Amino acid sequence: MDVYFSQRYVRIPLTGESMAELTNPEKRMLKSLQGRDGKWSLQEVLDACDWDDQAIAVSAGHGLSNLGFVKISESSELGVILGGEGENAVTNGLLEARLWDFIQSNPNSTMKEISQNFERHEAGPGIGLLKGLGVKIDGGKFACESPESVSKEIAKRTEFIKSPTIDSPLLEHFKGRKNLIEIVESVTRTWSITKDGKKIEASKLEEVVKIAEITPELLQSEDWKNAEFRPYDVSLEASMPNSGRSHPMQALIERIRSIFLEMGFSELVDDYVQTAGWNMDALFIPQDHPAREMQDTFYLDNPRKIKLDPKLLKDWKAIHEHGGDTESTGWGGKFDPEISQKGLLRTHTTVNTIQYLAKNPEQSCRVFAIDRVFRKESIDKTHLPEFHQIEGIIMEPGANLGMLVSTLKTFYQKMGYPEVRVRPAYFPYTEPSLEVEVKWRGKWLELGGAGIFRPEVTEPLGIKDPVCAWGMGLERLAMLVLGLDDIRQLYISDLEWLRNQPIL
Ligand code: PHE
Repeated sequence: MDVYFSQRYVRIPLTGESMAELTNPEKRMLKSLQGRDGKWSLQEVLDACDWDDQAIAVSAGHGLSNLGFVKISESSELGVILGGEGENAVTNGLLEARLWDFIQSNPNSTMKEISQNFERHEAGPGIGLLKGLGVKIDGGKFACESPESVSKEIAKRTEFIKSPTIDSPLLEHFKGRKNLIEIVESVTRTWSITKDGKKIEASKLEEVVKIAEITPELLQSEDWKNAEFRPYDVSLEASMPNSGRSHPMQALIERIRSIFLEMGFSELVDDYVQTAGWNMDALFIPQDHPAREMQDTFYLDNPRKIKLDPKLLKDWKAIHEHGGDTESTGWGGKFDPEISQKGLLRTHTTVNTIQYLAKNPEQSCRVFAIDRVFRKESIDKTHLPEFHQIEGIIMEPGANLGMLVSTLKTFYQKMGYPEVRVRPAYFPYTEPSLEVEVKWRGKWLELGGAGIFRPEVTEPLGIKDPVCAWGMGLERLAMLVLGLDDIRQLYISDLEWLRNQPIL
């Protein structure tokens, strides 16, 4: 069995029946060694295994020795190899040999001539070497008692430098000269098979090709059926692949969607270009309401005006001016149908649910929408001019405030926020109205509004049953879910941040 720990490869030999798995070089070496007893030299192992690289033999031998299949005898001995100057001397001759040749062929040569014919750094030391061999300088000329013995000694030195040996008497001399030779320690190993090694059956020494990479060709060729695969080391550090993934906002929308679908709601999708009539008048928002001002709402140049059914305009006018057929007194003042037909970017998704109800006034329903809305807000930590709302309605006989609150509580619970509370609030289109708050890190955070649509909203559209309605901020919720204190973080496309977001 092979066990990998991090980058290191630790082998645990198994006892009993099973045997530690051998590497291919180990198998090959053991197989060769089983051929005969006695010590094998490196060269013998290389020849028998058909290897060029001695490192393979050494490492396979170590592996086999750790497993007790092979015995290694190591002996180290000193040897001599040439240094840089030594190599030079082999090709060009030793300095004293060259100088001696020069002097012999130019018996009257002067120091000047020598320095002209030899490198500057060679002349001095060269003469020193010759002096050591008994050459003298007499009156500027070279003299020697026994030129034969000088030649003889130089020949010996030349012989040595061509094939240096550790036991030569010249070793000491050359050790004292710079960079001519080096004394090195070399290890000689021999390998011999042990009793345990002999016992390993030949069948276990078949070399197998271990496949490290699975390729289409391999799969097509059927070779994989008998192949052995190199195990994956799952404990190794690996780089994280950067694959595509949903934006956290999209993932959050997906999750909210599935919660409402699970709770029996249907999804509503509608345009964000709308009329002031549906966005506000239908919801009994007075035409002089401050939120309708240019500084709060994006009115459009194109389409500047969207025609509305005159019957609707007539009904809204009656409701707004005096309460129409309802018991309401309305807002009073003058209702302007031109204002109703102004084109705008919806400021809330209630514009869509109200139109859904107008089209289906009698059929009980549970509808939700998660969609984009627009308000002229200056951008800061908690405001964006473009954001999303989670809108919903429940219309059915007997729908009431308790149902509304428990629906919202259930939703937030499913989102992972079990502590939810409601507070009284005001919206022109609901009565009673409430604000929904969720506890997060010990604080109550306001997430949206809700209520039951007023008769001024429902009656002109022919709606008979009570309608629970709510609209909540998606980005606010996202800030809680993702732990952000700046809403802008959601949309700045910071890849680093996006990659590190949890998968919701
Ligand atoms: N439309 C409201 C808003 O934009 C929320 C709301 C929706 C309140 C439905 C009551 C009922 O804040």
